[in-house]
Amino acid sequence: MKSTHCSFKPLVSPYELKRPVRWDEPFGRSAPVDVEIGFGMGEMLMRTARECPDRNFIGIEQHWERLCKTLRVMTKEQLTAPEAFQNIRILWVDARVVFERLFTSKSVDTIYCLFPCPWPKKSHIKHRLFHHDFLKLLNDRLKKDGKVKVVTDSYPYLEWVLSQAEGTGFRVETKTVQSQYDTKFERKWREEGQQEFFNLNFFKKKHINVSVKKDIVLKNYTLDKFDFERLRLKDEKGEISVIFKDTVFDREKQKVLIYTLVAEQHLTQHFWIAVTRKKKAWSIAKAEGQNFFPTAGIARALALVYEAAVNTA
Ligand SMILES: C[S@@+](CC[C@H](N)C(=O)[O-])C[C@H]1O[C@@H](n2cnc3c(N)ncnc32)[C@H](O)[C@@H]1O
Repeated sequence: MKSTHCSFKPLVSPYELKRPVRWDEPFGRSAPVDVEIGFGMGEMLMRTARECPDRNFIGIEQHWERLCKTLRVMTKEQLTAPEAFQNIRILWVDARVVFERLFTSKSVDTIYCLFPCPWPKKSHIKHRLFHHDFLKLLNDRLKKDGKVKVVTDSYPYLEWVLSQAEGTGFRVETKTVQSQYDTKFERKWREEGQQEFFNLNFFKKKHINVSVKKDIVLKNYTLDKFDFERLRLKDEKGEISVIFKDTVFDREKQKVLIYTLVAEQHLTQHFWIAVTRKKKAWSIAKAEGQNFFPTAGIARALALVYEAAVNTA
């Protein structure tokens, strides 16, 4: 019978981790840290975690269904072996954001990525993960002698990654390998007839500094007068884009909720801004009970609501 039971215990909320993040805490022990980017159905993550019980593994995946399938397999194995996978923690976030914000400098031992999306179309190249700046970021987060291992099915992608490597502090080795990882995508390419894959190993030789992106302390605004009927919110587009998607006004509670989208580089966040009557004044702040990274974009969205609210007086 197919198991549907799924424990979310290995899942770590990136918003609740204390900064700077000390990964010993969510694991409850200090051990070398290995990270898999885009673990898919988790075959490699689970196998290496089983083989190396003395290491801590962090799996990053942004595809919720694949992540849940991995958790389901882990849960099933834990029914008969409760000690299994105690060395795995999982993050449901874009890997770029994780490396920018949640790993400190020189904190990771090894980074793996099997079959990253090659984004073969020219117009999609901007989505490729292992570009020059991302490699520099990984370099900073790796410990001395740390390593990044990428396996791809696409020779043009291998060539492109190699073209990004100069000046990133790595010595790169490439080799052709047979199928050996038994992941969903490796099986898929094998079934389609591909016999050989391309392995890129990046060995850290020189440290490159890339600072950790810090959370911003968000300002709460207050104003004496506010008239919802006259509120005109203006979207802003550019390096930081702020789009006001929806507004809900509760006349009785004297409260406005504004559903807002903020996009900055590769980070897109949705959140609610609350304009609330508090005794004699109105306050503008993030609505309670939401998870997001407090960024310059979020701060800009609050400032835009404040400017529009001031204009209603
Ligand atoms: C082609 S699949 C490979 C999955 C798995 N490694 C395998 O071999 O079967 C690429 C995976 O990377 C994930 N992914 C792509 N970009 C990502 C990112 N920026 N952060 C986290 N996961 C990402 C995708 O959701 C997808 O599951």
